[in-house]
Amino acid sequence: MGHLKPALPVALDLTGRLVAVFGGGPVTGRRLRTFLAEGAVVRLVSPWACEEVQDLLAEHPDRASWLQRDYAGAADLDGAWLVHTATGDADVDARIRSDSDERRLWCVDETDALASRASVLTSTRVETPDGTLTVAVHADGDARLAATVRDGIDLALRSGDLDLRRHRPRETGWVALVGGGPGADGLLTTRGHELLASADVVVIDRLAPRGVVSRLPASVRVIDVGKTPGHHPVPQDRINEILVEEAERGHGVVRLKGGDPYVLGRGGEERLACEAHGIPVEVVPGVTSAVAVPAAAGIPLTHRGIAKAFTVVSGHEQIPTLPPGTDHTLVLLMGVSTLRDTTRILIDNGRPGSCPVAIIERGFLPDQRVTLGTLADIADTALFRRVQSPAVVVVGDVVDLAHS
Ligand SMILES: C[S@@+](CC[C@H](N)C(=O)[O-])C[C@H]1O[C@@H](n2cnc3c(N)ncnc32)[C@H](O)[C@@H]1O
Repeated sequence: MGHLKPALPVALDLTGRLVAVFGGGPVTGRRLRTFLAEGAVVRLVSPWACEEVQDLLAEHPDRASWLQRDYAGAADLDGAWLVHTATGDADVDARIRSDSDERRLWCVDETDALASRASVLTSTRVETPDGTLTVAVHADGDARLAATVRDGIDLALRSGDLDLRRHRPRETGWVALVGGGPGADGLLTTRGHELLASADVVVIDRLAPRGVVSRLPASVRVIDVGKTPGHHPVPQDRINEILVEEAERGHGVVRLKGGDPYVLGRGGEERLACEAHGIPVEVVPGVTSAVAVPAAAGIPLTHRGIAKAFTVVSGHEQIPTLPPGTDHTLVLLMGVSTLRDTTRILIDNGRPGSCPVAIIERGFLPDQRVTLGTLADIADTALFRRVQSPAVVVVGDVVDLAHS
């Protein structure tokens, strides 16, 4: 156990304040980046500067200056609010530190952390719907321990393990349209998890990742507006109203949708409905089933020498306008009930009956099933195997790459 040095964590607003920086190496580079990002004015004194430092100086000509020489005495501290030294020469750093002390300036001496009375804490920053969260860790000079703790907290925040719900209404609610991916918990984005950790209300679809939903704390209200094909328990207008009403009550609302909100998911309508009521909306893209579900069966939508492009469709209308070559991959969403008509129209429009077809039901879920065939026979095979929605249909030569 080391001797604990007194240390008070303090948050400094450096906007427009001068930081005197000494030394031009990579340690300075790291801190310089932070100081400049915080809005500080920086004056570097160093006979040389590494590439990173030079780049940063060039990027901020308005706030960063460079006196290309050695430390010349206490006058170099003039006007500074904070001093940072990492010259690589312990004697020079010690002089700068003691000159700073005499002038009652806080000096971060990176060469001698024990002697230094100020240090920049290891930190991380996470954007939450209720504001930016900065977590800084002080571990009594043990940089490794500090980084480990920081990373642990960072992970807990980003994974949603740290529950940020306030359990009281905010003045302004918010809505996030979060793409939940094709159903497997692991395919929800980190940002999706972050927002779920702050949500009071989660409005879910039939295809939203159920595992994620089942792990939400009991205090979170889950509203299921799930649709099944041909049966819409909650009409879209009502879904829009629910989002608006809940946000207007001051709640944080995550609308957790299957796949990506903007791919055949009516995410655009939901966003516009919220914005029309002045509600802030964040849209978090998701892994769309159009691309991911074929991948779950081993089918890449493009493959060198086999297919260069793909089209995603949900109906028949566009089919006559699509390239008929089997090297152009077609992905059909919501295509199970209309499969027979679709295959007929494709053949009528020039696709060969021998063109390979795959149907992937319940992609990424434990009972995923793949049915293979050709345009000529897939409708009969699907009927025989009682293929059901949700399923993605892939048409094209890439189907031959499916896992056997
Ligand atoms: C209303 S669309 C929504 C698409 C969604 N926004 C997306 O980006 O994946 C629903 C269709 O997506 C497809 N789908 C979504 N998840 C699926 C899964 N896990 N397995 C197979 N198909 C899926 C099916 O074609 C289903 O009929």
